[in-house]
Amino acid sequence: MHAGRGGFEEYLAVRNLSSHSTLSTTTPTTTTMSPPSSFKQYEVQGAGIESLTVVDAPLPALKANEVLVKIKAVSLQYRDLMVVSGGYRTPVLPNIVPCSDGAGQVVSLGAEVKRWKVGDRVVSNFFLDHLDAEGMTPEIAQTALGGAAHGVLAEYRAFPAHSLLEIPAHLSYEEASTLPCAALTAYTALSSGPHGHPLKAGDTVLIQGTGGVSIFALQFAVASGASTIVLSSSDEKLALAAKLGARHVVNYNTTPEWGKEARAMTPGGRGVDRVVDVVGNEMIEHPSSAHESMPCRRTGTSVKLRVHSLS
Ligand SMILES: NC(=O)c1ccc[n+]([C@@H]2O[C@H](COP(=O)([O-])OP(=O)(O)OC[C@H]3O[C@@H](n4cnc5c(N)ncnc54)[C@H](OP(=O)(O)O)[C@@H]3O)[C@@H](O)[C@H]2O)c1
Repeated sequence: MHAGRGGFEEYLAVRNLSSHSTLSTTTPTTTTMSPPSSFKQYEVQGAGIESLTVVDAPLPALKANEVLVKIKAVSLQYRDLMVVSGGYRTPVLPNIVPCSDGAGQVVSLGAEVKRWKVGDRVVSNFFLDHLDAEGMTPEIAQTALGGAAHGVLAEYRAFPAHSLLEIPAHLSYEEASTLPCAALTAYTALSSGPHGHPLKAGDTVLIQGTGGVSIFALQFAVASGASTIVLSSSDEKLALAAKLGARHVVNYNTTPEWGKEARAMTPGGRGVDRVVDVVGNEMIEHPSSAHESMPCRRTGTSVKLRVHSLS
């Protein structure tokens, strides 16, 4: 998916959700689009892809602050595979409904919901209750969709009204469903940084790999007018990265000293302004690789995803 012409601010231009409704017990719904009394959803009933099972689930009785969404599109992360295979690093619910990233249409509203109307196009938030960057708590961590909380691989799901974002008109359901996890991680990596400065036109960003986070980082960087250097183990993937706007590409297998190569690609050999590091521990465990991304000035956010500034 390519970023829109207005850059990544417009790309993620979604409704500002600052207030936080209170959860309450079941009350009658006020508005509906006639959802069925039951629907189908996937559950992980064991471990391994063969344990994915389609089951019939009753339509939930909406709480006063909840919104029922007909799911139209779900995107997959590597995390979803870990959850299904039983290898996820934190506990998941028994018979978990997998997947964190979904988009759909509002079909009914709890009695107190004012923010949404039937027919609205919405996308879910990765953590249902994580509403600002500074506010993570152990309780909020328990609201991670498709992990600690049931996810979105279902025909319908009820969400607290505060957990949804409006889909901008220029994005399809499929496009919007790719935004909550990998895209937001990449966005956060690039919109904050050394001294709090966001990425700007003219900066050079080194992006490791061609996975979900990296490809979003590439698109956001290109939309911002930054120059990009993409690393991959695969020449085929590097060719695709170049099509998406990567200015320089380097195969880290055939060029083990990719750090020197990357520096030489920057204006005057001054070094890159940022590294979007999705490799983390592996780099630390392999000092020759780590050496290539040094000198590091700043460590940023996210598990195994760090943003460095090189100078
Ligand atoms: N997906 C998310 O929403 C999300 C959110 C928060 C944090 N994270 C974390 O961010 C990291 C990346 O997630 P992802 O979903 O993008 O994973 P992914 O789709 O599996 O991609 C991982 C990429 O890492 C690259 N890579 C592996 N070893 C490398 C090395 N030595 N040097 C350079 N690149 C290397 C590979 O690139 P090539 O195949 O091109 O060689 C691969 O494409 C993970 O640690 C994940 O836990 C992800």
